[in-house]
Amino acid sequence: MSDTVPVPARVREGSVSPIQDLNDWRRAWLQARNDPDGFWLEQARALRWRRLPSEGLVGGYDTVREGPFSWFHDGILNVTESCVDRHAEATPDKVAILWEGDAPGEVRRITYAELSAMVNRCANALARLGLKKGERAILYMGMVPEAAVAMLACARLGAVHSVVFGGFSAEALRDRVRDCGAELVITQDEGRRGGRSVPLKAVTDAALEGEHGVKKVLVFRRTGAKVGWTAHRDVWWHEVVDAASPEHEAVACGAEDPLFILYTSGSTGRPKGLVHTCGGYLTYASYTHRVVFDLRPDDVYACLADVGWITGHSYIVYGPLANGATTLMFESTPLYPDAGRYWDVVERHKVTIFYTAPTAIRALAAQGDDFVTRHDRSSLRVLGTVGEPINPDAWRWYFDVVGEGRCNIVDTWWQTETGGILIAPIAPATPTRPGSATLPLPGVRPQLLDPDGRELRGPSQGLLCIAEPWPGQARTVWGDHARYVATYYAMFPGRYFTGDGCLRDADGYHWITGRVDDVLNVSGHRMGTAEFESALVGIEEIAEAAVVGYPHPVKGQGVFAWLVLQEGEECSQALLQRCQTTLRVRIGAHARVDRFQVVPGLPKTRSGKVMRRILRKLAEGRGDELGDVSTLADAEVVSAILSAISGDSCE
Ligand code: WTA
Repeated sequence: MSDTVPVPARVREGSVSPIQDLNDWRRAWLQARNDPDGFWLEQARALRWRRLPSEGLVGGYDTVREGPFSWFHDGILNVTESCVDRHAEATPDKVAILWEGDAPGEVRRITYAELSAMVNRCANALARLGLKKGERAILYMGMVPEAAVAMLACARLGAVHSVVFGGFSAEALRDRVRDCGAELVITQDEGRRGGRSVPLKAVTDAALEGEHGVKKVLVFRRTGAKVGWTAHRDVWWHEVVDAASPEHEAVACGAEDPLFILYTSGSTGRPKGLVHTCGGYLTYASYTHRVVFDLRPDDVYACLADVGWITGHSYIVYGPLANGATTLMFESTPLYPDAGRYWDVVERHKVTIFYTAPTAIRALAAQGDDFVTRHDRSSLRVLGTVGEPINPDAWRWYFDVVGEGRCNIVDTWWQTETGGILIAPIAPATPTRPGSATLPLPGVRPQLLDPDGRELRGPSQGLLCIAEPWPGQARTVWGDHARYVATYYAMFPGRYFTGDGCLRDADGYHWITGRVDDVLNVSGHRMGTAEFESALVGIEEIAEAAVVGYPHPVKGQGVFAWLVLQEGEECSQALLQRCQTTLRVRIGAHARVDRFQVVPGLPKTRSGKVMRRILRKLAEGRGDELGDVSTLADAEVVSAILSAISGDSCE
């Protein structure tokens, strides 16, 4: 293909990666395919184990109905010994966490020796608060180093953390607290973001009204704001953690013990708590972080995600720390105080690897090049993207303007379920193509299927599945293994179905086309249409609601809500406002409808299923391409919708 971009010389220079070109990649990929257990046991050796595992995979997709498959089942470790202790011994003065606060230049540098003491103190404090191996702790925090410390402290005790993104509402937080049966919540007085305060403790208090099993709330003081206080339940971090001993003996865990639960949205129902393990997950996070970014000892690595999402888990905390890297944590937003903030951070901290989402790239590109070029970006070597397809224009801007043609772009495709990157360029080795996530990493076997489950060979477009498990894959849904099986393995038995569509070109490069199910991806935030709809139909005046995504120039997808009102009700600005408020209360501030349309009815199949395909086309303004509507129960509905669209939409 003509628009292949060779790996820039700057990216290869000084690389000690065992994969230097596509021949190396092919050799490694075939080796992993021919001997997966041998390959992954070798990768597992990059961690510190108390007892090295002797076996790789046990079970698989064909037996997943009976129970989860396992990796490294006889291995024993504590992940914090890989992420903290061994680096505190070998490189105690190296900065582990480089924190850039909300205010430009508000910086903390935490060395591995200091991180070790912080994690141990926190683990001792959590143990005193009663947290034990296997019990769950919810973290509802902003981007402060203490969030990473709290995750690691839970891991040190063998307790299971579940981080809830700080933008979720009290109701969403309450659902997660209940679903995982949390014993403890860790939060902070307030978060800081873009010059504003986020009332984390107040939301926690609201979430903890009513039934739950939470006994203690540990509160980190970030801003010093006055907050509500529940005696006997709430405890200040600076009182119990700072006073605790900096020595702590880590609890031995089995490789398959759960490390964390992370909730994510699917096509149906409420968010699912995906369970990631200690041994397999950490092996995978460490391997992918090292290989894709071609990590080097003196790198300053910055992933601009939030710890509330999987990217923050794998590529701010666990992967980089397992690899002994310096990982930057960023509390603010790309637009605060202006659109130059990222490049200001790159310049001041001499960032070498920079990893963000396409939505941020598009938003910044729209602000003009001056914000970029006024800062020195010569330290940069690798630029990453994650979370949604990147359009070639945004890719080009990232490559030309941000990277000045010197950096390779690694467009990394993966999911909460996959634990780490599956399809992506390997920085020094893979020529790129704008918009393509390129090739699967060694150990990963993607397949494209047609809707009948037939495997497509050669250049083709189809449904993206993975043929074999890998160590970083989520093992189950917390408390509901049947749902895990039904969601990922029912459609194509014997394979993991990702929910994404994908095109594979003549050279085997992968181009992700987006979700083929009812999952929305708005500014890289994954949300379920079902969650929107259930919130909207909870409003008295609304009889039915159907939500679909449509292409949006900055956010990737916008949210389009089709509403059917109850008999006799009329649309008003006040009603639409109430819809937005309801979504904010039920889900969070990131759940907003961009466009509403009131219609007399929804197009449905004879079995009563809403035909989203039609609503998606209509939302895109492509009502003339509706295709086959013969399965509609009531074809009249479409013409009624079309005339409603041309009429008053009440926006
Ligand atoms: C989408 C985020 C295209 C995809 C790590 C996937 C992408 C969903 C890419 C998972 C990419 C992620 N190119 N699409 N490089 N990366 N996606 O669970 O639709 O928040 O299924 O994990 O994001 O979103 P999640």
